[in-house]
Amino acid sequence: MLDRVELVVEGRLLDGREARIFLGGGVVLAVRGPAAPVGGARVYRAPPGTVVGPAFVDIHVHLRGLELSFKEDERSGTAAAAAGGVAAVVDMPNTRPPLRDPGSLGLKAESLARLSLVDYAVWAGIPRDPGHAPAMAGHPLVLGFKAYPEDYDSPGLAAAAAEASRLGKALIVHPEDPGLIGECSLGRRGSECRPPEAEVEAVHRIASLAPPGLRVHVTHATTPATLEAAASYGFTSDVTPHHLTFTSRDEARGCLFKVNPPLRPPEVVEGLVKAVSTGLADAVASDHAPHTPGEKSGAPEECPPGIPGLEYAARVLLTLASRGVLSLASAWRLYSARPALAAGLRGYGCLAPGCRAAVAVVDPSREGVIGRTTRDYSKAGPGAWEGYRYRGEPVALILGGSVVMEDGEVHEDAAAREARPATALTLGRQAEA
Ligand code: DOR
Ligand code: ZN
Repeated sequence: MLDRVELVVEGRLLDGREARIFLGGGVVLAVRGPAAPVGGARVYRAPPGTVVGPAFVDIHVHLRGLELSFKEDERSGTAAAAAGGVAAVVDMPNTRPPLRDPGSLGLKAESLARLSLVDYAVWAGIPRDPGHAPAMAGHPLVLGFKAYPEDYDSPGLAAAAAEASRLGKALIVHPEDPGLIGECSLGRRGSECRPPEAEVEAVHRIASLAPPGLRVHVTHATTPATLEAAASYGFTSDVTPHHLTFTSRDEARGCLFKVNPPLRPPEVVEGLVKAVSTGLADAVASDHAPHTPGEKSGAPEECPPGIPGLEYAARVLLTLASRGVLSLASAWRLYSARPALAAGLRGYGCLAPGCRAAVAVVDPSREGVIGRTTRDYSKAGPGAWEGYRYRGEPVALILGGSVVMEDGEVHEDAAAREARPATALTLGRQAEA
């Protein structure tokens, strides 16, 4: 094995053991004790007081790119990911052009291959032409289809769901029933025009149209009732850092806090945090939704919804762990192994032989303030998170055979060389250990 080792990561694992993690050929070759010989391999020693574990995985991000590159592109968005300890992202299809046909998917795949600094996959949009569903479902970067509220009634959804089911791919759902949500006019709180009941109703509706055997994932659930409804059908679910942190009271602070689904009243947020601490949510995803600082300084009735958070999601989770809301190990799993499993990403969120060589190093007691002690690589800047005090920070990210982020600074050349489709392992290129 030693002849194939490119890098050895030495540090303390989540279970407290000291270990040497042998990486080579893009995967984990072995995890051994601290005295295992390293031969002539390069060694990265994690700093004292840190913990090493599988790198984070974010299954809901909007990298934008293409004609929306002025908001974010695959380079700036994945720099934010790397700075946040995230080694794999799954990009959303509401781009311009939207990823609702094979041609647009091809353009997106080309941008990701050229610009991404971390591993990547894609959720395809629901095709306008149902005849496109097979080619899109079969695209190697596609983990499944994303259904927005406007898609629930479309003929494309039935075709996409059938193809996803046939290929073992997933349907990821934005759960807000279109019949129950409206635009917010002046002075109305988000929850008044987009009530929580719209989420539960959406879950029932999707359950009624999903073919048997289809894996369904309910994303950015904002209430415990939504999580319960999802679980009742065997669907997986995720919650966002912003719905766990901010409340509808923050909406008074302006467009930075406008997001769909909206921020909820404090008692609902409390319930959501509790639901996460008791294991009702399967995963955490950032729903990183960048818009320009100019757009987000507009009037709340007209400005675009969305909160960026890819660089900060791990910090927010680690902060919840530092407060005792959940253990460090559970917080870590919620943003690595669990989302990887829900999205169907093989080889991520694990450190066993054959898993992707993707390791995060976290200092659970390092404190800082977003916007001051962070790099803020996203074109959207820190946005709503500016001034948030965190405790717990990813201090390094190892991808392939390289340290691609250290102390928040992303080494772009190394990262660009190492990044590859996150679906490479799924497709059977798993190196023998
Ligand atoms: O707030 C949101 N922003 N919700 C969405 O569903 C889309 C997202 C975006 O793309 O900006
Ligand atoms: Zn989203």
